[in-house]
Amino acid sequence: MQVVIAEVGELARRGADAVERVLRERTDPVLGLATGSSPLPIYDELVRRHTEEGLSFALARAFLLDEYVGLPAEHPERYRHVIERELESRVDLDPERVQGPDGLAEDLAGACARYEDAIAAAGGVDVQILGIGTDGHIAFNEPGSSFASRTRVMPLTRQTREDNARYFDGDVEAVPARALTQGLGTIMAAGQIVLIAQGSGKAEAVHQMVEGAVSAMWPATILQHHPDVTVLLDEDAAGKLQLADHFREVVAAEGR
Ligand code: F6R
Repeated sequence: MQVVIAEVGELARRGADAVERVLRERTDPVLGLATGSSPLPIYDELVRRHTEEGLSFALARAFLLDEYVGLPAEHPERYRHVIERELESRVDLDPERVQGPDGLAEDLAGACARYEDAIAAAGGVDVQILGIGTDGHIAFNEPGSSFASRTRVMPLTRQTREDNARYFDGDVEAVPARALTQGLGTIMAAGQIVLIAQGSGKAEAVHQMVEGAVSAMWPATILQHHPDVTVLLDEDAAGKLQLADHFREVVAAEGR
């Protein structure tokens, strides 16, 4: 794991660098996109590079991490709409080439299997952007998730629903109780992973992910077993890291 502790502009640049590299170097780039608030600075920087520097997404495919089960098709908080708003509509990403799991399918298990097939048919995800939940989830793999899990239905914890109530006018009961989510096994198959976290609310989950024992109680700890993970943190999210000074020294030595 490479851990970078910096102000948000620098985090956004590094996250966007990883995406830009894939877009420029691959003939068939496949992006893994998180929703939620954490990746927004990266998406804003990618939009800037598209607008000001001509960075193109025209050849890219993109897969979302997850989708709420049962939110009406037009609901603005459906993750398929969120990514359309925050990135897709602001760059030249073809909507036909952006896919999320179908949280409105009658056969949810079938929709999950088809989603895994679609990712495999695209050749797998080249670079996966992640956030982290306060309970250590990545995508919606809540504590207790199998490290071998693939896309499936996941009941959301009360904590996650409370955390996400801010997107539903503060009403916890309006937050769907279930989501379809890529599994930890699905995420671990990505070629490269970039996780971004901001704020002291994430500090404990970040500490566990980077420095804790690998445990299903903190699902993000499985990332310790991935060979190419970059963790982008602001000072508050890094607030509980015992190795923070070491990580700062390593980055300073890069000469950037
Ligand atoms: C979203 C997702 C979640 C979020 C996490 C953090 O697609 O998969 O794991 O990344 O819940 O959410 P924010 O960024 O809103 O704090």
